[in-house]
Amino acid sequence: MTKDTDKAISPLLREDWSYVEHSALEQLSAQEWQTLLPQRAAYYRQEQARQALRLLAASEHDATFGYRVNNYQHCLQAATLALRDGLSEEDVVVCLFHDVGFITCPDSHGEFAAALLGNYVSERNHWMLQRHALFQDVHSPNHPYADPKARDRWLGHPHFEWAATFVERYDQAAIDPNYDSAPLSHFEPMVMRLFAKPPRPMPLP
Ligand SMILES: [Fe+2]
Ligand SMILES: [Fe+2]
Repeated sequence: MTKDTDKAISPLLREDWSYVEHSALEQLSAQEWQTLLPQRAAYYRQEQARQALRLLAASEHDATFGYRVNNYQHCLQAATLALRDGLSEEDVVVCLFHDVGFITCPDSHGEFAAALLGNYVSERNHWMLQRHALFQDVHSPNHPYADPKARDRWLGHPHFEWAATFVERYDQAAIDPNYDSAPLSHFEPMVMRLFAKPPRPMPLP
């Protein structure tokens, strides 16, 4: 391990940490891994929530394609509606991040949010996030391509009602420019607490 101070090298999160010496994984020694893995675990505990919040915050001032609020405001509004309805902290954070990938990967933005939060939320919310876009179709009766029966394939599933409720109350109606949403800073402690939970192992797809 080295204490390299080269300006081209990224800074370490903590001053008492060490860099690995090599630049390819296959070259790392067992001792380097012994040092690296605890640093990595501590890094994740400190940075995961903060970087997730930055993902969302990056879109704060973005333009909209036609809704009267941008995607950032939609996410804040969804979370605020859930908060004021007295939903659990987990549900509020799920609402906050449900569309964080809506612009960058529109066709799979539900899976994006499910992957982001999956280790820290219940199966109920993971399932809902993955499918919420299809549950939205029933709320767009005049959309030329939406299939109002898209969600019916999951009728009877234990998480169907939550997905339907989420979309009806906290998603499809959360594009009101006159709604008084709480600022992102209001949700930050909730996000920090969620990501501080022991991670739930995610099965491979
Ligand atoms: Fe969505
Ligand atoms: Fe949404």
